[in-house]
Amino acid sequence: MHLFLNLLPAVCILIAQIRFVAAAPLSSDVAIQAGGGLPNNGFPTLISQDAIKEFQLLLFLENLEAFFFKNGLANLTSCGTSRYSNDTVEVISKIAAQEEVHVTTLTTLLQAYNQTVIPPCNYTFPITSMDQFLAYSDIITSVGIGAIIGLADRLSSSDPLLIKSTSSIITVESRHDAFFRQMDGEVPNPSPFDTGISGIWAYNLALPFVLPGSCPIEIPLPVLPTLSATNNNSRNGTLRQVEFRWNPSQLPLEKEGSKQLFIGWLNQLNLPTYTNLTIQGQGKGSAEVPQGLNGAAFAALTSQKPNNANDLALATLAGPVALKLS
Ligand SMILES: *[C@@H]1O[C@H](CO)[C@@H](O)[C@H](O)[C@H]1NC(C)=O
Ligand SMILES: *[C@@H]1O[C@H](CO)[C@@H](O)[C@H](O)[C@H]1NC(C)=O
Ligand SMILES: *[C@@H]1O[C@H](CO)[C@@H](O)[C@H](O)[C@H]1NC(C)=O
Ligand SMILES: *[C@@H]1O[C@H](CO)[C@@H](O)[C@H](O)[C@H]1NC(C)=O
Ligand SMILES: *[C@@H]1O[C@H](CO)[C@@H](O)[C@H](O)[C@H]1NC(C)=O
Ligand SMILES: *[C@@H]1O[C@H](CO)[C@@H](O)[C@H](O)[C@H]1NC(C)=O
Ligand SMILES: *[C@@H]1O[C@H](CO)[C@@H](O)[C@H](O)[C@H]1NC(C)=O
Repeated sequence: MHLFLNLLPAVCILIAQIRFVAAAPLSSDVAIQAGGGLPNNGFPTLISQDAIKEFQLLLFLENLEAFFFKNGLANLTSCGTSRYSNDTVEVISKIAAQEEVHVTTLTTLLQAYNQTVIPPCNYTFPITSMDQFLAYSDIITSVGIGAIIGLADRLSSSDPLLIKSTSSIITVESRHDAFFRQMDGEVPNPSPFDTGISGIWAYNLALPFVLPGSCPIEIPLPVLPTLSATNNNSRNGTLRQVEFRWNPSQLPLEKEGSKQLFIGWLNQLNLPTYTNLTIQGQGKGSAEVPQGLNGAAFAALTSQKPNNANDLALATLAGPVALKLS
Protein backbone atom coordinates (compact mmCIF):
# COMPACT_ATOMS: atom_id res chain seq x y z
CA MET A 1 0.00 0.00 0.00
CA HIS A 2 2.77 2.38 0.91
CA LEU A 3 4.65 1.70 -2.29
CA PHE A 4 1.52 2.28 -4.31
CA LEU A 5 0.87 5.59 -2.59
CA ASN A 6 4.43 6.66 -3.09
CA LEU A 7 4.20 6.06 -6.80
CA LEU A 8 0.88 7.78 -7.19
CA PRO A 9 1.49 11.41 -8.08
CA ALA A 10 -2.02 12.44 -7.03
CA VAL A 11 -1.07 12.24 -3.34
CA CYS A 12 2.01 14.33 -3.89
CA ILE A 13 2.40 17.98 -4.46
CA LEU A 14 4.92 18.65 -7.14
CA ILE A 15 6.58 21.95 -7.51
CA ALA A 16 8.43 22.35 -10.74
CA GLN A 17 11.03 24.65 -9.42
CA ILE A 18 12.05 24.80 -5.81
CA ARG A 19 12.97 28.29 -4.87
CA PHE A 20 13.87 29.56 -1.49
CA VAL A 21 10.94 31.87 -0.88
CA ALA A 22 11.45 34.54 1.72
CA ALA A 23 8.68 33.96 4.27
CA ALA A 24 7.77 36.16 7.18
CA PRO A 25 11.21 37.65 7.41
CA LEU A 26 13.51 36.56 10.18
CA SER A 27 15.39 39.48 11.61
CA SER A 28 19.16 39.19 11.62
CA ASP A 29 19.10 39.79 15.39
CA VAL A 30 17.00 36.68 15.88
CA ALA A 31 19.29 34.62 13.64
CA ILE A 32 22.36 35.83 15.57
CA GLN A 33 20.71 35.13 18.93
CA ALA A 34 19.56 31.67 17.74
CA GLY A 35 23.01 30.75 16.44
CA GLY A 36 21.81 30.50 12.84
CA GLY A 37 18.97 31.41 10.52
CA LEU A 38 16.93 29.63 7.88
CA PRO A 39 18.50 26.57 6.26
CA ASN A 40 19.54 27.22 2.65
CA ASN A 41 19.34 23.60 1.52
CA GLY A 42 15.94 23.93 -0.22
CA PHE A 43 13.14 21.38 -0.02
CA PRO A 44 12.47 18.02 -1.70
CA THR A 45 10.71 18.20 -5.06
CA LEU A 46 7.85 16.05 -3.80
CA ILE A 47 5.97 16.19 -0.57
CA SER A 48 2.99 14.05 0.46
CA GLN A 49 -0.38 15.49 1.46
CA ASP A 50 0.09 13.78 4.82
CA ALA A 51 3.38 15.64 5.31
CA ILE A 52 1.67 18.96 4.60
CA LYS A 53 -0.91 18.21 7.32
CA GLU A 54 1.82 17.07 9.72
CA PHE A 55 3.86 20.23 9.14
CA GLN A 56 0.79 22.41 9.57
CA LEU A 57 0.24 20.77 12.96
CA LEU A 58 3.94 21.17 13.80
CA LEU A 59 3.75 24.86 12.92
CA PHE A 60 0.72 25.16 15.22
CA LEU A 61 2.85 23.66 18.02
CA GLU A 62 5.95 25.72 17.24
CA ASN A 63 3.83 28.91 17.21
CA LEU A 64 2.76 28.04 20.75
CA GLU A 65 6.35 27.36 21.86
CA ALA A 66 7.64 30.53 20.24
CA PHE A 67 5.02 32.63 22.00
CA PHE A 68 5.52 30.80 25.30
CA PHE A 69 9.26 31.47 25.42
CA LYS A 70 8.98 35.04 24.17
CA ASN A 71 6.37 35.75 26.84
CA GLY A 72 8.36 33.87 29.51
CA LEU A 73 11.49 35.78 28.60
CA ALA A 74 9.65 39.10 28.90
CA ASN A 75 8.45 38.00 32.36
CA LEU A 76 11.96 36.95 33.40
CA THR A 77 13.63 40.13 32.31
CA SER A 78 11.02 42.16 34.20
CA CYS A 79 10.92 39.95 37.32
CA GLY A 80 14.57 38.89 37.52
CA THR A 81 16.12 35.46 37.93
CA SER A 82 18.14 36.03 41.08
CA ARG A 83 17.80 32.45 42.32
CA TYR A 84 19.17 31.08 39.10
CA SER A 85 22.56 31.19 37.43
CA ASN A 86 23.53 34.32 35.53
CA ASP A 87 23.32 32.76 32.10
CA THR A 88 19.62 31.88 32.52
CA VAL A 89 18.36 34.86 30.55
CA GLU A 90 21.00 34.28 27.89
CA VAL A 91 19.98 30.62 27.44
CA ILE A 92 16.24 31.38 27.41
CA SER A 93 16.82 34.19 24.90
CA LYS A 94 18.55 31.66 22.68
CA ILE A 95 15.68 29.20 23.14
CA ALA A 96 13.09 31.86 22.23
CA ALA A 97 15.10 32.82 19.13
CA GLN A 98 15.54 29.17 18.08
CA GLU A 99 11.79 28.61 18.31
CA GLU A 100 11.30 31.63 16.10
CA VAL A 101 13.70 30.17 13.53
CA HIS A 102 11.71 26.89 13.65
CA VAL A 103 8.47 28.82 13.03
CA THR A 104 9.94 30.71 10.09
CA THR A 105 11.46 27.53 8.66
CA LEU A 106 8.11 25.70 8.74
CA THR A 107 6.36 28.76 7.33
CA THR A 108 8.85 28.86 4.47
CA LEU A 109 8.39 25.15 3.85
CA LEU A 110 4.60 25.42 3.60
CA GLN A 111 4.89 28.48 1.38
CA ALA A 112 7.37 26.71 -0.88
CA TYR A 113 4.65 24.12 -1.59
CA ASN A 114 1.97 26.82 -1.84
CA GLN A 115 0.14 25.44 1.20
CA THR A 116 -1.80 27.14 3.98
CA VAL A 117 0.45 28.61 6.64
CA ILE A 118 -0.95 28.23 10.17
CA PRO A 119 -0.84 31.59 11.94
CA PRO A 120 -0.39 31.90 15.71
CA CYS A 121 -3.40 31.89 18.05
CA ASN A 122 -3.73 33.74 21.34
CA TYR A 123 -2.45 31.83 24.32
CA THR A 124 -2.94 31.60 28.04
CA PHE A 125 -0.63 30.05 30.62
CA PRO A 126 -1.45 29.58 34.30
CA ILE A 127 1.99 30.81 35.35
CA THR A 128 2.72 33.03 38.31
CA SER A 129 6.20 31.93 39.38
CA MET A 130 9.57 30.91 38.00
CA ASP A 131 9.00 27.36 39.28
CA GLN A 132 5.79 27.12 37.29
CA PHE A 133 7.50 28.58 34.26
CA LEU A 134 10.16 25.86 34.47
CA ALA A 135 7.56 23.13 34.95
CA TYR A 136 5.49 24.29 31.97
CA SER A 137 8.64 24.75 29.87
CA ASP A 138 9.39 21.08 30.48
CA ILE A 139 5.83 20.00 29.64
CA ILE A 140 5.48 22.14 26.51
CA THR A 141 8.90 21.11 25.25
CA SER A 142 8.21 17.43 25.98
CA VAL A 143 4.97 17.65 23.98
CA GLY A 144 6.94 19.17 21.08
CA ILE A 145 9.56 16.42 21.27
CA GLY A 146 6.88 13.70 21.40
CA ALA A 147 5.05 15.27 18.48
CA ILE A 148 8.12 15.41 16.23
CA ILE A 149 9.16 11.84 17.06
CA GLY A 150 5.65 10.75 16.07
CA LEU A 151 5.72 12.89 12.94
CA ALA A 152 9.10 11.47 11.86
CA ASP A 153 7.77 7.95 12.37
CA ARG A 154 4.64 8.60 10.32
CA LEU A 155 6.51 10.31 7.46
CA SER A 156 9.51 8.00 7.34
CA SER A 157 8.28 6.02 4.34
CA SER A 158 6.33 8.71 2.43
CA ASP A 159 8.76 11.61 2.92
CA PRO A 160 12.21 10.27 3.92
CA LEU A 161 13.93 13.41 2.65
CA LEU A 162 12.25 15.49 5.36
CA ILE A 163 13.46 13.32 8.25
CA LYS A 164 16.88 14.95 8.50
CA SER A 165 15.28 18.38 9.06
CA THR A 166 12.85 17.08 11.67
CA SER A 167 15.59 15.13 13.49
CA SER A 168 17.71 18.23 13.67
CA ILE A 169 14.81 20.02 15.37
CA ILE A 170 14.18 17.23 17.92
CA THR A 171 17.74 17.23 19.23
CA VAL A 172 17.63 20.99 19.80
CA GLU A 173 14.27 20.73 21.58
CA SER A 174 15.75 18.00 23.80
CA ARG A 175 18.61 20.27 24.79
CA HIS A 176 16.07 22.90 25.74
CA ASP A 177 14.21 20.37 27.85
CA ALA A 178 17.42 19.14 29.52
CA PHE A 179 18.22 22.74 30.49
CA PHE A 180 14.79 23.30 32.07
CA ARG A 181 14.92 20.03 33.97
CA GLN A 182 18.37 20.77 35.35
CA MET A 183 17.32 24.28 36.33
CA ASP A 184 14.34 22.78 38.11
CA GLY A 185 16.70 20.58 40.14
CA GLU A 186 16.04 17.39 38.19
CA VAL A 187 18.35 15.17 36.22
CA PRO A 188 18.38 16.33 32.58
CA ASN A 189 18.23 12.77 31.23
CA PRO A 190 15.54 10.78 33.08
CA SER A 191 15.13 7.95 30.54
CA PRO A 192 16.99 6.29 27.66
CA PHE A 193 14.21 7.03 25.15
CA ASP A 194 11.71 9.81 24.61
CA THR A 195 8.06 9.12 23.79
CA GLY A 196 6.51 9.63 20.34
CA ILE A 197 2.83 10.61 20.23
CA SER A 198 0.08 10.82 17.63
CA GLY A 199 -0.93 14.07 15.98
CA ILE A 200 -4.32 13.99 17.74
CA TRP A 201 -2.63 13.73 21.12
CA ALA A 202 -0.10 16.46 20.34
CA TYR A 203 -2.90 18.77 19.23
CA ASN A 204 -5.01 18.11 22.32
CA LEU A 205 -2.02 18.54 24.65
CA ALA A 206 -1.47 22.02 23.21
CA LEU A 207 -5.12 23.13 23.29
CA PRO A 208 -5.33 23.98 27.03
CA PHE A 209 -2.86 26.82 26.33
CA VAL A 210 -4.83 28.18 23.37
CA LEU A 211 -7.52 30.78 23.95
CA PRO A 212 -10.72 29.23 22.53
CA GLY A 213 -11.83 30.85 19.28
CA SER A 214 -8.56 32.76 18.87
CA CYS A 215 -7.02 30.70 16.05
CA PRO A 216 -7.39 32.37 12.62
CA ILE A 217 -7.12 28.87 11.11
CA GLU A 218 -8.16 25.77 13.05
CA ILE A 219 -6.31 22.49 12.67
CA PRO A 220 -8.81 19.86 11.42
CA LEU A 221 -8.24 17.33 14.19
CA PRO A 222 -10.74 16.12 16.80
CA VAL A 223 -10.93 18.03 20.06
CA LEU A 224 -11.13 15.56 22.94
CA PRO A 225 -12.64 16.10 26.40
CA THR A 226 -10.00 17.45 28.76
CA LEU A 227 -8.24 15.44 31.44
CA SER A 228 -6.07 16.82 34.20
CA ALA A 229 -3.83 14.97 36.60
CA THR A 230 -2.43 15.57 40.04
CA ASN A 231 0.72 13.64 40.55
CA ASN A 232 1.15 14.26 44.25
CA ASN A 233 3.94 11.71 44.40
CA SER A 234 1.96 9.73 46.94
CA ARG A 235 3.51 6.33 47.15
CA ASN A 236 2.03 3.19 48.50
CA GLY A 237 5.10 1.01 48.78
CA THR A 238 6.51 1.31 45.30
CA LEU A 239 3.13 2.16 43.78
CA ARG A 240 2.47 5.68 42.69
CA GLN A 241 -1.08 6.98 42.46
CA VAL A 242 -2.21 9.73 40.17
CA GLU A 243 -5.52 11.50 40.57
CA PHE A 244 -7.33 12.35 37.35
CA ARG A 245 -10.13 14.83 36.77
CA TRP A 246 -12.38 15.28 33.79
CA ASN A 247 -15.38 17.43 33.04
CA PRO A 248 -18.54 15.32 33.56
CA SER A 249 -20.48 17.57 31.18
CA GLN A 250 -17.94 16.85 28.42
CA LEU A 251 -17.68 13.20 29.35
CA PRO A 252 -20.84 11.67 30.78
CA LEU A 253 -19.35 8.38 31.88
CA GLU A 254 -22.77 6.82 32.38
CA LYS A 255 -22.64 6.41 28.59
CA GLU A 256 -19.93 3.87 29.25
CA GLY A 257 -22.33 1.96 31.52
CA SER A 258 -20.65 -0.22 34.07
CA LYS A 259 -17.64 -0.79 31.84
CA GLN A 260 -14.26 -0.82 33.56
CA LEU A 261 -12.36 2.32 32.60
CA PHE A 262 -8.61 2.50 32.22
CA ILE A 263 -5.81 4.96 32.09
CA GLY A 264 -3.64 4.19 29.07
CA TRP A 265 0.00 5.14 29.60
CA LEU A 266 2.56 5.86 26.94
CA ASN A 267 6.24 6.10 27.78
CA GLN A 268 9.47 5.70 25.81
CA LEU A 269 9.37 3.09 23.02
CA ASN A 270 7.04 0.74 24.88
CA LEU A 271 3.57 -0.36 23.89
CA PRO A 272 0.81 1.39 25.83
CA THR A 273 0.10 -0.04 29.28
CA TYR A 274 -3.20 0.17 31.13
CA THR A 275 -4.18 0.47 34.77
CA ASN A 276 -7.70 0.46 36.20
CA LEU A 277 -9.30 3.80 36.87
CA THR A 278 -10.98 3.84 40.28
CA ILE A 279 -13.83 6.32 40.16
CA GLN A 280 -13.81 8.54 43.23
CA GLY A 281 -16.73 10.77 42.41
CA GLN A 282 -18.15 12.78 39.56
CA GLY A 283 -15.35 13.71 37.20
CA LYS A 284 -12.70 12.27 39.49
CA GLY A 285 -10.75 9.03 39.71
CA SER A 286 -7.35 7.63 40.46
CA ALA A 287 -5.03 5.12 38.88
CA GLU A 288 -1.73 3.52 39.68
CA VAL A 289 1.28 4.47 37.61
CA PRO A 290 2.65 1.31 36.00
CA GLN A 291 6.13 0.28 37.13
CA GLY A 292 9.15 1.46 35.18
CA LEU A 293 7.77 4.66 33.67
CA ASN A 294 10.18 7.59 33.71
CA GLY A 295 10.58 11.11 32.41
CA ALA A 296 7.73 12.54 30.39
CA ALA A 297 4.80 10.13 30.07
CA PHE A 298 1.41 10.64 28.49
CA ALA A 299 -1.85 9.30 29.89
CA ALA A 300 -5.42 9.17 28.64
CA LEU A 301 -8.76 7.86 29.84
CA THR A 302 -10.14 5.01 27.77
CA SER A 303 -12.48 2.01 27.95
CA GLN A 304 -10.36 -0.06 25.57
CA LYS A 305 -6.85 -1.44 25.60
CA PRO A 306 -5.42 -0.92 22.12
CA ASN A 307 -1.90 -2.26 21.68
CA ASN A 308 -0.44 0.71 19.85
CA ALA A 309 -0.22 4.45 20.35
CA ASN A 310 -2.25 5.50 17.30
CA ASP A 311 -5.20 3.26 18.18
CA LEU A 312 -5.06 4.48 21.76
CA ALA A 313 -5.32 8.03 20.42
CA LEU A 314 -8.47 7.00 18.53
CA ALA A 315 -9.87 5.25 21.63
CA THR A 316 -9.21 8.20 23.95
CA LEU A 317 -12.31 9.28 25.91
CA ALA A 318 -10.55 12.17 27.67
CA GLY A 319 -7.06 13.56 27.55
CA PRO A 320 -4.29 13.02 27.04
CA VAL A 321 -2.34 14.68 29.80
CA ALA A 322 1.44 15.02 30.00
CA LEU A 323 3.03 13.90 33.26
CA LYS A 324 6.53 14.29 34.55
CA LEU A 325 7.11 10.98 36.34
CA SER A 326 10.77 11.52 37.18
C1 LIG B 1 4.00 35.83 32.13
O1 LIG B 1 3.39 36.57 33.15
C2 LIG B 1 1.97 36.71 33.02
C3 LIG B 1 1.50 37.64 34.11
O2 LIG B 1 1.86 37.16 35.36
C4 LIG B 1 1.36 35.33 33.12
O3 LIG B 1 -0.04 35.40 32.98
C5 LIG B 1 1.92 34.45 32.01
O4 LIG B 1 1.40 33.14 32.12
C6 LIG B 1 3.43 34.42 32.08
N1 LIG B 1 3.92 33.69 30.94
C7 LIG B 1 4.90 32.80 30.98
C8 LIG B 1 5.22 32.09 29.73
O5 LIG B 1 5.54 32.57 31.98
C1 LIG C 1 26.32 36.52 38.76
O1 LIG C 1 26.82 37.81 38.50
C2 LIG C 1 27.11 38.57 39.68
C3 LIG C 1 27.47 39.99 39.28
O2 LIG C 1 28.15 40.00 38.06
C4 LIG C 1 28.22 37.87 40.46
O3 LIG C 1 28.51 38.59 41.63
C5 LIG C 1 27.75 36.47 40.80
O4 LIG C 1 28.79 35.75 41.43
C6 LIG C 1 27.32 35.70 39.56
N1 LIG C 1 26.70 34.45 39.96
C7 LIG C 1 26.97 33.30 39.37
C8 LIG C 1 26.23 32.11 39.90
O5 LIG C 1 27.76 33.20 38.46
C1 LIG D 1 -1.02 28.72 -5.18
O1 LIG D 1 -2.33 28.71 -4.63
C2 LIG D 1 -3.17 29.71 -5.17
C3 LIG D 1 -4.47 29.68 -4.39
O2 LIG D 1 -4.99 28.39 -4.32
C4 LIG D 1 -3.34 29.44 -6.66
O3 LIG D 1 -4.14 30.46 -7.20
C5 LIG D 1 -1.98 29.46 -7.34
O4 LIG D 1 -2.11 29.12 -8.68
C6 LIG D 1 -1.03 28.47 -6.66
N1 LIG D 1 0.29 28.63 -7.23
C7 LIG D 1 1.08 27.59 -7.53
C8 LIG D 1 2.43 27.92 -8.02
O5 LIG D 1 0.71 26.43 -7.41
C1 LIG E 1 -5.90 37.93 20.25
O1 LIG E 1 -4.87 38.90 20.46
C2 LIG E 1 -5.00 40.02 19.61
C3 LIG E 1 -3.77 40.89 19.79
O2 LIG E 1 -3.41 41.00 21.13
C4 LIG E 1 -6.30 40.75 19.94
O3 LIG E 1 -6.45 41.85 19.10
C5 LIG E 1 -7.45 39.79 19.72
O4 LIG E 1 -8.66 40.38 20.11
C6 LIG E 1 -7.26 38.50 20.51
N1 LIG E 1 -8.29 37.54 20.14
C7 LIG E 1 -8.99 36.85 21.04
C8 LIG E 1 -10.01 35.92 20.50
O5 LIG E 1 -8.78 36.94 22.23
C1 LIG F 1 -2.35 12.62 47.61
O1 LIG F 1 -2.03 11.36 48.16
C2 LIG F 1 -2.68 11.04 49.38
C3 LIG F 1 -2.15 9.71 49.89
O2 LIG F 1 -2.41 8.68 48.98
C4 LIG F 1 -4.19 11.02 49.13
O3 LIG F 1 -4.85 10.74 50.34
C5 LIG F 1 -4.64 12.36 48.59
O4 LIG F 1 -6.00 12.32 48.28
C6 LIG F 1 -3.84 12.73 47.37
N1 LIG F 1 -4.16 14.11 46.99
C7 LIG F 1 -4.32 14.46 45.73
C8 LIG F 1 -4.65 15.89 45.50
O5 LIG F 1 -4.18 13.67 44.81
C1 LIG G 1 -1.69 0.47 49.97
O1 LIG G 1 -2.39 -0.37 49.08
C2 LIG G 1 -3.02 -1.49 49.71
C3 LIG G 1 -3.60 -2.35 48.59
O2 LIG G 1 -4.31 -1.58 47.66
C4 LIG G 1 -4.05 -0.99 50.70
O3 LIG G 1 -4.63 -2.08 51.36
C5 LIG G 1 -3.37 -0.08 51.72
O4 LIG G 1 -4.34 0.48 52.56
C6 LIG G 1 -2.61 1.05 51.03
N1 LIG G 1 -1.88 1.83 52.00
C7 LIG G 1 -1.91 3.15 52.04
C8 LIG G 1 -1.07 3.82 53.07
O5 LIG G 1 -2.59 3.86 51.24
C1 LIG H 1 -9.04 -4.11 37.21
O1 LIG H 1 -10.44 -4.20 37.14
C2 LIG H 1 -10.89 -5.49 36.77
C3 LIG H 1 -12.41 -5.41 36.53
O2 LIG H 1 -13.02 -4.55 37.43
C4 LIG H 1 -10.52 -6.47 37.89
O3 LIG H 1 -10.95 -7.76 37.54
C5 LIG H 1 -9.01 -6.45 38.03
O4 LIG H 1 -8.62 -7.26 39.11
C6 LIG H 1 -8.50 -5.05 38.28
N1 LIG H 1 -7.05 -5.04 38.27
C7 LIG H 1 -6.33 -4.52 39.23
C8 LIG H 1 -4.83 -4.62 39.09
O5 LIG H 1 -6.82 -4.01 40.21
